[in-house]
Amino acid sequence: MVTTTRPLDLADPGFWRLPEEERLAAFRALRELEHPVRFGDAVNGFHALVRHRDVVEASRNPKIFTSGTGVTTPRPPRWVRTVFGDSMVNLDDPRHGRLRAVVSKAFTPRVVGRIASDVERLATAIADDVLATRPSDFVSAVAGRMPFEVICDMMGIPASYRPEVLAQVDHSTERTGGRFRVPGKNLRALARLQHVVGKVARERRREPADDLISALANAGLNARELGSFFSLLLVAGVETTRNTIAHGLHLLTVNEAQRELLTNDFDRHAAGFVDEVVRFSSPIIQFRRTVSEDYELGGHPLRAGDDVVLFYTSANRDEAVFDAPDSFDITRKPNPHVGFGGGGPHFCLGTSLAKQEITVLFRELLTRMPGIRSAGAPVLAPSSFDNRIARLQFTF
Ligand code: HEM
Repeated sequence: MVTTTRPLDLADPGFWRLPEEERLAAFRALRELEHPVRFGDAVNGFHALVRHRDVVEASRNPKIFTSGTGVTTPRPPRWVRTVFGDSMVNLDDPRHGRLRAVVSKAFTPRVVGRIASDVERLATAIADDVLATRPSDFVSAVAGRMPFEVICDMMGIPASYRPEVLAQVDHSTERTGGRFRVPGKNLRALARLQHVVGKVARERRREPADDLISALANAGLNARELGSFFSLLLVAGVETTRNTIAHGLHLLTVNEAQRELLTNDFDRHAAGFVDEVVRFSSPIIQFRRTVSEDYELGGHPLRAGDDVVLFYTSANRDEAVFDAPDSFDITRKPNPHVGFGGGGPHFCLGTSLAKQEITVLFRELLTRMPGIRSAGAPVLAPSSFDNRIARLQFTF
């Protein structure tokens, strides 16, 4: 078992650059303590929720554990919220409930049906291109392509706008969580993204099409709500799924027995595989909540105004819930991971879409390129927010 002798500070960006084994050992030590530990300074400090049961309790109690001050760490300055509007992830009821209901309604059977055929078609096109051009980086050629194209199709982003949108998605999260501040480059990228979405929305108000932008632009969302919702969809839906797919290939490469299980009976193990990749890699590392009134969590007093950070990455390795939590096991049953959130009103809206994309893509890849494997260690982009693989060499 790896132990760490360095001072442990989850609020220090340096912690997120430590090797993974050291970070996992630190979380293991924190889970053994009786109470959550507080990290950081008076302004951006937080209590770290590292146990599965604490993350679930906070997620399912939104009256006490609120999202309205923003869910990323550190708290974004007020002006950022004013300029960029609020996306649903940063809202509490009643505004959150209203927005989520409108958005969920926009996923009509026609839109969902079209997405399913888009996902199949895209998986085939991605495999065709890989076989024809033999690229070396799995992230740009495969993992990132699927979720980006699917979300653009779903929203109705015209092909001519896509290269710019993709560049802005990358820039908008480039350093999130790495430096514990909101860099100007991220903000400029978000502003650009909102500008493009606003332009398409104006076109769709004049001439509606069968896509999400038309549905929402004509369902009463104002320009700011629309802009921030689509930035959220692009960032939340692309980045996370891309990282899960890249982690998936690498995990199958370094766990040969699990790979055999999956390839011998794909349909039987596909769902277990996807859930286990999400548990094991925790593509979103953490989200924050602010406590609305004094509250006791597992016997630990919290004060109104305190921030708590829900470390999904730690809850997903909690030995109180998972046997052999550090083993990658696609037959794990049940697998109550919190990679898509711990339940409650903010639970990931894109769960079934992400699962569908990952399943269809791996079925296509493993069938048409049975020898596909990562080559060497993934190049990681250290962050306290998302478990991002920047580049992954591969062979087939
Ligand atoms: C494997 C891929 C994904 C992972 C690991 C993931 C993870 C998460 C997590 C941890 C949350 C916060 C849950 C909470 O606070 O309780 C979340 C929220 C959200 N996700 Fe995902 N996500 C993924 C894919 C997607 C996709 C494909 C989409 C879009 C189509 C999406 C859209 C959203 C939205 C809109 C929210 C905010 C929901 C709300 O505040 O009501 N996600 N996701």
